[in-house]
Amino acid sequence: MQITLNEKQRRLPSASQAVRYRLCLQPQVALLAHADRIRNVYCGRQVFIRGLLEFSNYCMRNCLYCGLRRGNTKLIRYRLPPDQIVSMVRAIYNSGLRTVVLQSGDDHVYSRACLCDIISRIKTLCPGMAVTLSVGERPLQDYRAFREYGADRYLLRHEARNERLYRSLHPGQSLAARMTILEYLKKIGFQVGVGNIVGLPGQKPKHLIEDILFMKEFCPDMIGIGPFIPQRHTPLADFSSPALSTVLRYLATVCIETGVTLMPATTALATLAGPGGYRAGLNAGCNVIMVNFTPYPVRKHYRIYDNKIAIGLAEVLRLVRALGRIPSGARGDSFRKPKQPNRLCASCRA
Ligand code: 5AD
Repeated sequence: MQITLNEKQRRLPSASQAVRYRLCLQPQVALLAHADRIRNVYCGRQVFIRGLLEFSNYCMRNCLYCGLRRGNTKLIRYRLPPDQIVSMVRAIYNSGLRTVVLQSGDDHVYSRACLCDIISRIKTLCPGMAVTLSVGERPLQDYRAFREYGADRYLLRHEARNERLYRSLHPGQSLAARMTILEYLKKIGFQVGVGNIVGLPGQKPKHLIEDILFMKEFCPDMIGIGPFIPQRHTPLADFSSPALSTVLRYLATVCIETGVTLMPATTALATLAGPGGYRAGLNAGCNVIMVNFTPYPVRKHYRIYDNKIAIGLAEVLRLVRALGRIPSGARGDSFRKPKQPNRLCASCRA
């Protein structure tokens, strides 16, 4: 997708003008350098390394872009048993990382009690480990229980802030329900991550601007953004990915507009551009990398999109150091809490 504006849009005076200018018009070198400076002010040279465990690829949803969608009958499905999840998390802990991201499709076979048990075992066996959950939409009581059992953070990308676009991509789901969950997660004290895909079929620059204005307003602790990458057993198989420069412009604009946010250079970005994608992301406002610890026999089945790249901890450490940045396995909690509110953000100022 090329970001260009027509004459009418160029002349539109609106609250979103600054965002529009950055995303669509500002020369790229200046835009990326600005984001890099902002990142450096809030975060310095640190890059937080997280351990990622994709513990189930079952999903009850049918999102058009995602290879885990329930309609994909070609995918070999797996679930890791709780004992294996806990022992993999111990391995992540022993490698020195103090954040684990537990991710799955929307798989309610892992009951509330089961996930709570996993969280509390991790908290006992791995003192000081931050637990980030990324297990999709569930009843609100589940989130409260996860929080009470010690989960620290929750990633639930909003995926698309435009109602019509959201509806067209997520059959049977509603944007309003997603928003209710995100507000609830924040209210009960999770550090919350949102985000979206760049370059989805049907997505226009105005949609991306809506996404940015939403993120600015919502004031998330974390933001996950990656390019659309087609998966061949989905309805969007024949569409192509956006240009790397489009994604980098978007990342930089988000960084500038939202200020203090933990933002990974994502695997999708590196899948689009090779390991150079990580470097490019880290130079466009990103300050986090997730290293995949999913066991090898099942890893290839977590096929959200095709050709997903895998990079080990040692290689990530080398890559980060080569950029003159400092890899950190520390918890890397939100910059917003407790003492660094985002002055740009309406809800932090309140
Ligand atoms: N391309 C890029 N990102 C995708 N995701 C799902 N499918 C794709 C795809 N084809 C993203 C979604 C989801 C996250 C785990 O992966 O945004 O929230």
